[in-house]
Amino acid sequence: MLDPYELAVKELVLKLEHLIEEYRLKGMYSPIEQVKGRVKSIASILEKAQRKKIPFDNLETEMEDIAGIRIICQFEEDIERVAQILRSRSDMTVKSVKDYLTNAKPSGYRSYHLIIYYTVETVNGPKRLQMEVQIRTLAMNFWATIEHSLQYKYKENIPEYVRKRLSSAAEAIGMLDKEMSSVRSEIIDAQNSSHMQAHLVVEILNNIQNLYKVANKRDIIKIQDEFYRIYAQEDLDQLTQFHKELDAIAEGYRAQGL
Ligand code: GTP
Ligand code: MG
Repeated sequence: MLDPYELAVKELVLKLEHLIEEYRLKGMYSPIEQVKGRVKSIASILEKAQRKKIPFDNLETEMEDIAGIRIICQFEEDIERVAQILRSRSDMTVKSVKDYLTNAKPSGYRSYHLIIYYTVETVNGPKRLQMEVQIRTLAMNFWATIEHSLQYKYKENIPEYVRKRLSSAAEAIGMLDKEMSSVRSEIIDAQNSSHMQAHLVVEILNNIQNLYKVANKRDIIKIQDEFYRIYAQEDLDQLTQFHKELDAIAEGYRAQGL
C-alpha cells in the first residue's frame, strides 16, 4: 500500500528541487530554499489510526499525511509565493489548506499546510493519492524541530515551564522572521534602485552624446557639468528629473532639425 506514496514523495521532491535549480540557472531568487519528503512509518500510521479511530479500510482517504513534503523558505513572504506556485501547477490539485501562519497553534507552531491530490503511475494504472505539504521558514522549521524533539522526549507531557519557554521562543521566532523580512525588502529595494540608476545613467550619457551632434558646445558643457553635479549627489529622484529635462532638450533639437 505504501509503495505509490514512496513514488509520489520521490517525484515531488525531485520536481521541486529542479524548480530551485531552474531559478538559480536563470539567476533568479528561489522562493524555495530546501525540500524534504518522507513517507509515514508504519508504526506512526498505526498509532495515528488508533488515536483518530480510523478503520484500516479508510486509511487512504482519512489519513492525509501518509506522504509528506516539507518546503523550507528563507523568508515569510516566500511561503505565499510557494503556495501560489503549487496552486497553479497542473500535476496537483489542492484539497484543503490549514493556515497556521495567521493562526498559530496553541503550542506556538507556525506553518502553512496544504493537502493536495497527486497522481502517480503504477503497474495497475494511475493512482491518485493525498499528500500533506508543509511550507515554513528556516526559523519556523528550527522551532518546530526542537519542539518536536521535546514532545518526543517528554512523551507529549511537556512540563508547564518548558511549554512557556517554547511559547516565548515561538514569539521570538516570529519577530526574527519579521526582522529578516524587513532586511529582505531593503535588499530588494537597494538592488532595484541601483539597477534603475545604472539604466538612467546609460540613457543620460547616450542623450548627451547625441546632443554633441546637434547642440552647441557651450550648452553641452553646461549640461555635462549639471549631470556631474547631480550624479555626485547619488539621488535617484534628481537623476530621474534630470533625465526628463534632458529628453525635453533633445526633443527640442529634434524638432528644430525637422
Ligand atoms: P497529526 O495527527 O499530528 O498529524 O495532526 P493532524 O492530522 O490533526 O494535523 P495538524 O495540522 O494538526 O498537524 C499536521 C502536522 O503538522 C503534524 O504531523 C506535525 O508535523 C505538524 N505539527 C502540527 N502541530 C505541531 C506542533 O505543535 N509542533 C510541531 N513540532 N509540529 C506540529
Ligand atoms: Mg501528521
